[in-house]
Amino acid sequence: MDNKPILVIHGPNLNMLGNREPETYGSTSLSEINEALRARAEKQGAAINTFQSNHEGEIVEAIQQAAGNCSALIINPAAYTHTSVAIRDAVLLLEIPVIEVHLSNICKREEFRHKSIIADAATGQISGLGAYGYLLALDAALNLAGK
Ligand code: DQA
Repeated sequence: MDNKPILVIHGPNLNMLGNREPETYGSTSLSEINEALRARAEKQGAAINTFQSNHEGEIVEAIQQAAGNCSALIINPAAYTHTSVAIRDAVLLLEIPVIEVHLSNICKREEFRHKSIIADAATGQISGLGAYGYLLALDAALNLAGK
């Protein structure tokens, strides 16, 4: 048990949630998701840091900085899920629980989304449960981090 925060990383285009393909991603905005996460973490006496970027290298740097400084990582790598060896390699650096989240069920969508190259580097994956999936990921992260 430590007091290190849980880091939540949102990948490209997730800053557009609420307006972006709501039939696929729902109508909840990213700031609403972050607020709900913060409120749930606070109830458990835990802190979270949230970060969104549309840039692969910035996401890699944020993951690198989590090493030693965070107790768990929740990450929706968005489109980079399917393409980014760099993000996968950064996740492999970590020795903390990593929960991969997708709002949509990536296995139910176009074939190119079926494969996550992050998934086997993560502790677990939550996919297809919408914004609620982030809250489940937080519960899992708190549990796995021993908080
Ligand atoms: C996503 C699924 C990805 O395939 C897509 O590129 C996204 C969002 C999801 O949360 O469902 O941007 O990660």
